[in-house]
Amino acid sequence: MKITLRPFRPDEFDVVWEARKLRASPTSPITPGAKRAIQRQIERSGRLSDGFLKLAIDVDGRLVGEIDARCPPNALPPGVFEVGIELYADEDRGRGYGTEAVRQLVDRLFAREGAERVQASTAAGNTAMRRVLEKLGFVYEGTLRGFMPSGGGRDDYVLYAVTRADWATPTPASAASRRGAPAGPSRRRGPA
Ligand SMILES: CC(C)(COP(=O)(O)OP(=O)(O)OC[C@H]1O[C@@H](n2cnc3c(N)ncnc32)[C@H](O)[C@@H]1OP(=O)(O)O)[C@@H](O)C(=O)NCCC(=O)NCCS
Repeated sequence: MKITLRPFRPDEFDVVWEARKLRASPTSPITPGAKRAIQRQIERSGRLSDGFLKLAIDVDGRLVGEIDARCPPNALPPGVFEVGIELYADEDRGRGYGTEAVRQLVDRLFAREGAERVQASTAAGNTAMRRVLEKLGFVYEGTLRGFMPSGGGRDDYVLYAVTRADWATPTPASAASRRGAPAGPSRRRGPA
């Protein structure tokens, strides 16, 4: 099984757009310009452009999801990137694709994009994403209480990060995950 990160192809717009619509929420609404924004992201995918890098997650030639890194100049200090990921279909989750995709993206950010620190935040209850980060050696740095509006309330988020030094000297456990345990369906399944 070959998992790669690559630019999107123009004919993949519909898949990305459908996923974006499903992700719509009060904090991430579909605005009139949203379709055009996705179009632009697809055109620019594969390269860091205006502080944003978006890549397709490809498994044996099949598009299974998307991953991105953001370093908006006026929102984060230089060298700090924030990553986000989504595997589109439930059937593709829990098979190791997410861990491998984040590993490849972080490698690239440190090797080619000038990253000094890579961080990610996720809902405190998102066990799958937390495990992805922990397996790769991201360090839990704290809980962002009442961070994300959600269903009339606000969810706590957790913040994880790796520095360039962490990534250069992995712990034995994260080194095993980063060597890339073979992906397969034997892992825990179910909604993230
Ligand atoms: C979060 C996500 C990227 C994880 O990728 P994935 O390919 O499903 O995860 P992996 O198969 O690499 O599994 C990583 C770890 O999480 C665990 N895991 C996976 N799905 C799980 C679930 N539903 N519940 C609990 N643990 C889960 C795996 O068992 C594994 O841990 P282990 O090695 O200790 O057993 C993916 O599930 C996804 O796209 N979810 C929806 C979008 C999302 O939540 N994105 C993150 C927002 S910041």
